[in-house]
Amino acid sequence: MTSSTAIVTGATSGLGVQVSRVLATSGTKVIMACRDPVRGRAVAATIDGDTEVRALDLADLASVRAFADALPGPVDVLVNNAGVMGVPFSLTADGFEAHIGTNHLGPFALTGLLIDRIRGRVVTVTSGLHVLGRISTDLNWESRRYQRWLAYAQSKLANLLFAYELQRRLAAPVRSIAAHPGVTATEGQRRDTSLQGKILAGGRAQPVQMGALPILYAVTAPDVPGGACVGPDGFLQRQGNPKLVRSSRRSRDPVLAAALWEQSEHLTGVRYPRPAGAAVQPRAGRSRRRFSLLQR
Ligand SMILES: NC(=O)c1ccc[n+]([C@@H]2O[C@H](COP(=O)([O-])OP(=O)(O)OC[C@H]3O[C@@H](n4cnc5c(N)ncnc54)[C@H](OP(=O)(O)O)[C@@H]3O)[C@@H](O)[C@H]2O)c1
Repeated sequence: MTSSTAIVTGATSGLGVQVSRVLATSGTKVIMACRDPVRGRAVAATIDGDTEVRALDLADLASVRAFADALPGPVDVLVNNAGVMGVPFSLTADGFEAHIGTNHLGPFALTGLLIDRIRGRVVTVTSGLHVLGRISTDLNWESRRYQRWLAYAQSKLANLLFAYELQRRLAAPVRSIAAHPGVTATEGQRRDTSLQGKILAGGRAQPVQMGALPILYAVTAPDVPGGACVGPDGFLQRQGNPKLVRSSRRSRDPVLAAALWEQSEHLTGVRYPRPAGAAVQPRAGRSRRRFSLLQR
């Protein structure tokens, strides 16, 4: 990674700080994309390496566009790490439910706006809780009772569908890889003290140095293929060293992924380029089937 440039979103707390620290101290120039640049600069001051803090609020598509417009030159790696976890119902600046807006639609737009400038990898951080997720036509929880952890699970399932579909659409040699940190002690993980949160977390959380390893492995290991998911190798993938893991069957459904992709382009207004020779072209004429799939 020496002489490479990486963007890490959510670099003010938890996994984003650790990933930024390890990459920067290993010789990578790290662009720390933070919604609070003042806190971002305070973190950067503790890192011994080449860092630059830039403002990015993934819950505001105008901020995402401004970030992409202001970014000079190509980058080697984009780490879509930032996210909210199990928060009460609220809407983003663009009127999306907070989890789907911040965790999926913001990174979807960011990646699309930068994709022509990414030379190496897009790493998208998901969660083991994706197994509880369903992608609904009511992505915004307008016509069903809001359940914050299911809203989180929907957004983390969306992360995987996005990461795999991106790989199918990318032109080589760029790779799209998903990673999840198991259960890791971070601000985000500690914030929820409810019984439900404790049950979902399922036992003791591993230190952030361990939780960051699957993400760092996805960023750096030469043998990780595009379209892979990296997670911890321990019991129920909750902790351990990084290895390639299998995500749920639903997360690997290419028709559902294409439907979500179309919906995400529609909602964000960000259209990805359609490179000639990409493995999968959008399947025309199946929109009715895709619509019913989003209702699953
Ligand atoms: N910790 C775990 O056990 C665990 C398990 C599975 C998956 N994950 C995933 O790991 C990723 C990192 O989470 P974490 O555990 O490190 O949580 P964290 O300590 O809460 O860090 C989350 C980061 O995302 C940033 N963020 C939140 N909303 C944002 C927005 N609208 N725009 C830009 N940045 C925003 C936060 O910024 P502020 O500091 O300004 O709030 C913070 O820097 C998330 O995608 C999460 O879903 C974590």
